[in-house]
Amino acid sequence: MSQNKKRLKLKKWVYYVIFVIILIIVIVIGVNLYKEYKYRQSNEYKLLQLGYTDNEVDILLEKLSNNTVKDLLTKDKDDDVVSFAKEKYYIDKNLNEYLAYYDENKNTNTKDVVAIINVNADHDWYDEELETDTSKNELMIVNKFYALTKDYAPENLVTIPLDYSYGNEGDNKLIDYAYEHFLDLWNAAYDEGYHLMVTSSYRDYESQEEVYNYRKETYGQRAADETAARPGHSEHQTGLVVDMTSTTEASANEFKNSDAYKWLKENAYKYGFIERYPEDKEYLTGYSAESWHWRYVGVDAATTMHKNDITYDEYYAFYIENQGK
Ligand code: DAL
Ligand code: ZN
Repeated sequence: MSQNKKRLKLKKWVYYVIFVIILIIVIVIGVNLYKEYKYRQSNEYKLLQLGYTDNEVDILLEKLSNNTVKDLLTKDKDDDVVSFAKEKYYIDKNLNEYLAYYDENKNTNTKDVVAIINVNADHDWYDEELETDTSKNELMIVNKFYALTKDYAPENLVTIPLDYSYGNEGDNKLIDYAYEHFLDLWNAAYDEGYHLMVTSSYRDYESQEEVYNYRKETYGQRAADETAARPGHSEHQTGLVVDMTSTTEASANEFKNSDAYKWLKENAYKYGFIERYPEDKEYLTGYSAESWHWRYVGVDAATTMHKNDITYDEYYAFYIENQGK
């Protein structure tokens, strides 16, 4: 009798274990089914189903916003979207503009399309006037769309002494912190045997108006716009710019062939200065190349631009306006 009881007890125990095992199995299967169900709802699964590769899906999910992915899921696989998403300076809100521009300009590569759209170079120059955000200080942008107001004048302008500049004492000025960096740049260049000289620097609105109007009257508006900024649109009004040549190549046109210029191209970024209107970037800046025009933006921004070979317009669109995303 007690043997039977024992067996029964044992059986109960076995039943209990079996029940727990089955419960665990059911839970595991249930969890997996739920996971599978959730995965099939995911954008990753849906993109893979559309034919995007694993690698492409990773890129799309990293670069595209949720809404853009949602939109993409309503269409067939689009290789152009992948090509744009792969571009370092891809900005999500510009995707439809990239695609439309690319459709119309199939010979332009995707890197250039991204740059053109990011800086609005697909628009007519000056077709829209935006106000420069001067609170960005050395990172403020001034170009053919962004303008300074007529009365904007930087604080803390200091005179560049005649050791470093042509003209008369007081003709050339920079914002104090840009001047400090200019001196470091100047000394580093001097140590290498290059004697840089400033030919122009801070210009107020009225001076720029004179410069521009003179060119316009002499060469016509189209030519003037290639070399001079319309008033309000000149970086010279920021107090962050020096036009420089050297004592050996004093003319602006000769300067681009000088060793001093080559040295600046390789080294100016270390002191926070960038070449603002480089050769081959006219379609992005709107200006013919100016080997003499150097803009202070700070060492970090200048280093990023130097390493990535981008103009300030591209830098501003991606790193400042779009916060580097
Ligand atoms: N030459 C440059 C573009 C200016 O006028 O500001
Ligand atoms: Zn200049």
